[in-house]
Amino acid sequence: MKIGILTSGGDAPGMNAAIRAVVKSANHNGIEVLGVKYGYAGLIKEELIPLGLTEVDGIAEKGGTILKTARCLEFMDELGRKKALETLKKFEIDGLVVIGGDGSFQGAEKLSKLGMNVVGLPGTIDNDLAYTDYCIGFDTTLNTVLDCINKIKDTDSSHEKTTIVEVMGRYCGDLALYPALAGGAEIISMPERKLSFQDICTRLRENINKGKNDNVIIITERMYNIEDLQKYVEEELKISVRSTVLGFVQRGGIPSGFDRVLASKMGVMAVKLLMNGSTGRFVGIRDNKIIDIDFSDVNTPNANKKMDYDLLNELL
Ligand code: ADP
Ligand code: F6P
Repeated sequence: MKIGILTSGGDAPGMNAAIRAVVKSANHNGIEVLGVKYGYAGLIKEELIPLGLTEVDGIAEKGGTILKTARCLEFMDELGRKKALETLKKFEIDGLVVIGGDGSFQGAEKLSKLGMNVVGLPGTIDNDLAYTDYCIGFDTTLNTVLDCINKIKDTDSSHEKTTIVEVMGRYCGDLALYPALAGGAEIISMPERKLSFQDICTRLRENINKGKNDNVIIITERMYNIEDLQKYVEEELKISVRSTVLGFVQRGGIPSGFDRVLASKMGVMAVKLLMNGSTGRFVGIRDNKIIDIDFSDVNTPNANKKMDYDLLNELL
């Protein structure tokens, strides 16, 4: 048996640990592995490399992905996917592991419908796949965001200032919510609970009136222009405010132990599924158990992952 593996979409810390686990598990079961470079683009351009124990030695602690990744427009098109399928056949690949986010999974499902055995692993810092409690990369990024905010807080508290911090997450608020729950912010605004500029000012004014003069406000990207918000708050409250967009610092870094363990468990599950001839299965973790589900359940809105509004209202 021969399997392929690729990473697609935004890179996430822990993708390498997943690649390593797939290769080690495959090796243990006498299966050959080919790494596809640049996500789906590598299938279209036939960029495949053999992956053995030597190639994956020492990669678990590295951020990014050794296979590189890409957002591939050609694959969105049926012709591109047919070419990808031809490559998989030409290289005699029996099953493919796709590590990526929501978009990559949609591509994986389409490839599976064309007759290739495909299994997906959730690799995205956004944690925006509702069927799984955690995606590979989220924990590392959570800690990176907290690390940055800790530093911002040192200067904020020294000067009794307020800083607005914009985090990634696409249309999911977990990268705002979790750092805030961990003590990183006084006010948050995220897609699942978007505050107006006025709401933010009201909350901030309440804090200042209570004597809390240093405040961190976390906002999820894509919701508003951070500079407009900064200006609005400054004019409304007549205070000086700073704003910081964390940007790509959030996607890099040494993967946390949690992400490496999660990625390793999921990688082993992916090989098991392909050995059983499964296809269109997507691996996740729920209640500390590794699970695999059908694509139709991947996008069930908020499946098993409801926002804990009580907790949110209690703490923020
Ligand atoms: P992520 O996987 O992190 O959500 P993207 O949404 O950018 O990242 O998707 C990664 C790649 O997956 C895209 O560049 C494209 O090649 C493929 N893809 C995304 N959506 C689809 C789709 N609806 N059909 C087929 N392929 C898709
Ligand atoms: O999906 C991961 C992510 O980092 C999102 O948080 C962000 O919106 C997006 O990718 C940024 O994409 P790009 O790498 O194309 O700038």
